[in-house]
Amino acid sequence: QWPAPDPRPSFHFAPERNWMNDPNGLVFFEGEYHLFYQYNPHGDRWGHMSWGHAVSRDLLSWEHLPIAIPETEVMAFSGSAVIDWKNTSGFGRNGKPPMVAIYTGFDPVTKNQSQFVAYSTDRGRTFSRHGKVLDIGSAEFRDPKVFWHAPTQRWVMVVVKASEKKAAFYSSRDLKQWQHESDFGPTASSTSVNWECPDLFELPVANGKPGEKRWVLAVSQGDKGPDNGSGGQYFVGAFDGKAFTLEPGWEDTPHWQDLGADFYASQSWSEVPDGRRIWIGWATDLRYAHAIPTTPARGLMTLPRTLTLRREGADWRLAQAPVRELESRRGALTQLEDLTLGETPVPLKLGESLDMQLAIDPQLASQVALSLTDAQGYTLLIGYTPATREVFIDRTRAGPHVHDAFPDRNIAALPPGDGPITLRLVVDRSIVELFAADGTRVITDRFFRGGGALSWSAHALGGRARIQSLRAWPIEPAVL
Ligand code: FRU
Repeated sequence: QWPAPDPRPSFHFAPERNWMNDPNGLVFFEGEYHLFYQYNPHGDRWGHMSWGHAVSRDLLSWEHLPIAIPETEVMAFSGSAVIDWKNTSGFGRNGKPPMVAIYTGFDPVTKNQSQFVAYSTDRGRTFSRHGKVLDIGSAEFRDPKVFWHAPTQRWVMVVVKASEKKAAFYSSRDLKQWQHESDFGPTASSTSVNWECPDLFELPVANGKPGEKRWVLAVSQGDKGPDNGSGGQYFVGAFDGKAFTLEPGWEDTPHWQDLGADFYASQSWSEVPDGRRIWIGWATDLRYAHAIPTTPARGLMTLPRTLTLRREGADWRLAQAPVRELESRRGALTQLEDLTLGETPVPLKLGESLDMQLAIDPQLASQVALSLTDAQGYTLLIGYTPATREVFIDRTRAGPHVHDAFPDRNIAALPPGDGPITLRLVVDRSIVELFAADGTRVITDRFFRGGGALSWSAHALGGRARIQSLRAWPIEPAVL
């Protein structure tokens, strides 16, 4: 059982039981989104790494499937999956393209990390092992993300040399023989011990010229993230099939994927039919991943999010939005207009799993906040500080002590401007995802209640404020 009264989220993915970490092998094929993930079949701590498996038609309701790639003499660490449409690998059967998984095999005896291939000819239900395809004799060489690069008619792999803080690029004609092309990194902005879980994709510039695109290189970092825990950065530039080059004038300051504590090891889907770039992250901070107080499953994914890129002055920002499939799970709308706030909290009749749009006019207030309070008085604050134009999620009084790194306050500074701000907030029992400034600022945080149901209220400090409008929809349970 999860701690009463069951903060297991209703529309975020968690395994049925045991330990889960990174999303792996994200690929769409024949109507199904596949979500493989780092999984320990034998317990709720990291170990015996295997690829767990689930499929979904809408990215929100998941069907659990048996383990796809088990631990053997090597653990099956993180990696990706592709559909080999041209059967370049020769793994296809009867004219049907194979699904090919490329993952890191970790040898627990020698500590070597090398890249392995396995393939499926039955829609990912069972995998046959091909074996090792790339070994540089390193203990810090992992997390291959592979995609088809049409201009060069080759497969490209981006993989990390983790402790060197490098992303390495390889190319292949057949997914089996790989040739080193170049390395990127380290950068001054990335001082973490490790780079992990890289991804590389091209995105439309949402506020750019028609058809304008840029490449984005994303890497997770084991520590020294936005709140000093783990997190992910991204870099914007160009990719020619061989090397990634930063956008001219790119300012080498950290560009965080997410400013909350709980977004790590992000990976994007390949083959999404309508061309969207959608990714998902493991909702944790590495510092307390083992202290997450849930049972029988420990580990949760964030919402899948659609990505675009935006120019912001001379700078670039990744923009994220909950996948639009979430809107079709919305229940009956609750709408409030022109709600005046002062220091006395105004109760709001809202549930624990919802999607909310909010327009706040701070007026004279020094802070405006929504509170989520449990029956024991533990409170999570989600708010805005107009003087510094910062949105925040404050966990300093949210739930019993889980870990020393847990009671924190995660902030995102909005771009210059004044007047009302609009926010999108998605809450699901023990996770909150806050999207601000067109999704260019995201804060993802988990929280754990002491007990009882959660209740919502809103208040303002230092003067009156106004909620111009609040629209909230409960998210209905999954129908499989
Ligand atoms: C990231 C990570 C990856 C590795 C996997 C092992 O959380 O450390 O670099 O492949 O987890 O489970």
